[in-house]
Amino acid sequence: MTLPLQDSILIVDFGSQVTQLIARRVREAGVYSEIAPFNSAAEAFKRLQPKGIILSGGPSSVMWEDSPRAPQAFFEAGIPILGICYGQQTMMQQMGGQVEGGESGEFGRAFIEVKKRCALFDGLWAEGERHQVWMSHGDKVTKLAPGFEVVAVSEGAPFAMTANEEKRFYATQFHPEVVHTPDGAKLLANFVRHVCGLKGDWTMAEFRATKIAEIREQVGDGKVICGLSGGVDSAVAAVLIHEAIGDQLTCVFVDHGLMRSGEAEQVVSLFRGSYNIPLVHVNAETLFMKGLEGVTDPEAKRKFIGKTFIDVFEDEARKIGGAGFLAQGTLYPDVIESVSFTGGPSVTIKSHHNVGGLPERMNMKLVEPLRELFKDEVRALGRELGLPEIFVGRHPFPGPGLAIRIPGEVSKERCDILRKADAIYLEEIRNAGLYDAIWQAFAVLLPVRTVGVMGDHRTYDSVCALRAVTSTDGMTADIYPFDASFLSRVATRIINEVKGINRVCYDFTSKPPGTIEWE
Ligand code: XMP
Repeated sequence: MTLPLQDSILIVDFGSQVTQLIARRVREAGVYSEIAPFNSAAEAFKRLQPKGIILSGGPSSVMWEDSPRAPQAFFEAGIPILGICYGQQTMMQQMGGQVEGGESGEFGRAFIEVKKRCALFDGLWAEGERHQVWMSHGDKVTKLAPGFEVVAVSEGAPFAMTANEEKRFYATQFHPEVVHTPDGAKLLANFVRHVCGLKGDWTMAEFRATKIAEIREQVGDGKVICGLSGGVDSAVAAVLIHEAIGDQLTCVFVDHGLMRSGEAEQVVSLFRGSYNIPLVHVNAETLFMKGLEGVTDPEAKRKFIGKTFIDVFEDEARKIGGAGFLAQGTLYPDVIESVSFTGGPSVTIKSHHNVGGLPERMNMKLVEPLRELFKDEVRALGRELGLPEIFVGRHPFPGPGLAIRIPGEVSKERCDILRKADAIYLEEIRNAGLYDAIWQAFAVLLPVRTVGVMGDHRTYDSVCALRAVTSTDGMTADIYPFDASFLSRVATRIINEVKGINRVCYDFTSKPPGTIEWE
C-alpha cells in the first residue's frame, strides 16, 4: 500500500534564523509544510510533490561566487513560488534580474506603500495604503527579471515587493513570517490558500489518522519498544503508536529516581490504568544513586546517567525479545538539518541525554511519528488523543532529571529534599495562575549551608535557588519577573515545610549568558 501524498508546501532553507517561523505560519494556515536545506531541496521536491514553494531568507549574498541557489528546475515546475529576502534575490537573479550590494541596507521596522493590486493582497491590502513590515537586508534588487512588476515600495527598497502574476511568482524584500510584520501571517495564508489553491484543512485529527496508517504500514506485525521519559513527547508518541498497533507495542519506563514529586506514579497509572498499554516499570533508583556517589562534575553526571539509562533500557528490551522497532518522540526542531555557512562543528555546552546509538547496536529500526511536529503541535496532538491536560501542558524536564539541579554530589536524601521544595514552588505557581505563562520553573538545591534561626534555635542548612524563565524554544530565555510578595510567600513556605532548607534565593540570570538548567 502506498499512502496518498498530502497537499504540502516546500520551504527551501538558505540559513535564515527565522526559517522555522515560515513553516509555523504555513501550518497555522492549515497547510502542511516541510523545510529542506537548499542543497537537498531537489530530493525533497520529488518526495513531497508540493503545490507551492517558499524560498527563505539567509545570511549569504547572491553576489558571492559560491552562495547558495534554488534548483533551477523549480522555476520551470509550473507551481507558485514566494521568495523572501535572500530567496527573493536569488530568484530574481536566477530568472534574469539584477541584485546589487547596498551600502547601508535596511534593518528593522519599515513601511511599504502598496502600488498595485496582486493576488497576495486580496482581501487584505489595497492600492495606496501604507503597512508596517520587518526588513533585514543589505543587498537589494536593482533590475527586475522579465515578467515581474513592482507591487509595493519602501523608502530603502524600490522593489520591496514584486510579482509575476502569470507565473504566480512573488518576491518580498521584507519578512512576512515574523510578528513585526503584523499582516505577514495573512500574506502567507493568501499565498498557500489563495494562490496555491490549498484548502487549509490540515488538522491534528487528519495528522493522527495519516500517522496511524503510516505506523501500521511501517511496522506490519512487528514488535515495537518505546522508552518513556515521563515527558510529553515520548508519552504522545507511545499513545499514538498504541492506537495504531495495539499490544504490539511495549513501553519501558526506566525510573532513575530523579523525577519530580509524584511523576513516576503518574506515568505508571496513566499507561497501565487509563490507556492499558503494556508497560515495564523498572525501578532503577538504587543503581543510579550508587553510581552517582562521589560524582560532582556536571558532564560526568550527565554521561553516567545517559549511559546507565541505555544499559538498563537495552537489558529490558532484550528480555522482552523480538522487537524490531524502537519508538522515539523526536521532534521537528531536532530533525531539521541546519544549514551551516561557517563550517565546523558547534561547541558542546552540555551532553544531552537520549537513546542515540541504541537502534544500531540492537539492529532496530526507528519509529518516530512526531518527526514533523513542533512542541506545541505535539501538545495539540496529545489533547487530540485525550491525554490529560496536566500531562500535556507540562513544562519541559531534562533527561538527567534532578541530578543536574543538585550541584555537587547527588543522593536520595538530597533528591527528596529538592522534590519537596520543587512541589511547593510549582503548587504556588499553579495557584497563582502563572504556570502556562512560564516556559520552565524549578527549584535547585545548592551545596552550600548557611546559618539561620528558627524559633529559639540556630539552624545550619542548605540553600535553595528558584528559577523561572520564559522562552519559545529553550535556546534563549528571560527570567520570569515574579512579584516580591509571591517570592516571599514561596520562600516562607519552603523554609517552614522542608526540613534541610533554611534560605531561598531567586536566580535572575537570562540565557545567554546563563543556561536554563544549572548544570
Ligand atoms: P539549557 O540548560 O541548556 O537547557 O539552557 C535548554 C533546555 O533543554 C533542557 N535540557 C535537556 N533536555 N535532555 C533533555 O531532554 C538533557 O540532557 C537536557 N539538558 C537540558 C532544559 O531543561 C531546557 O528546557
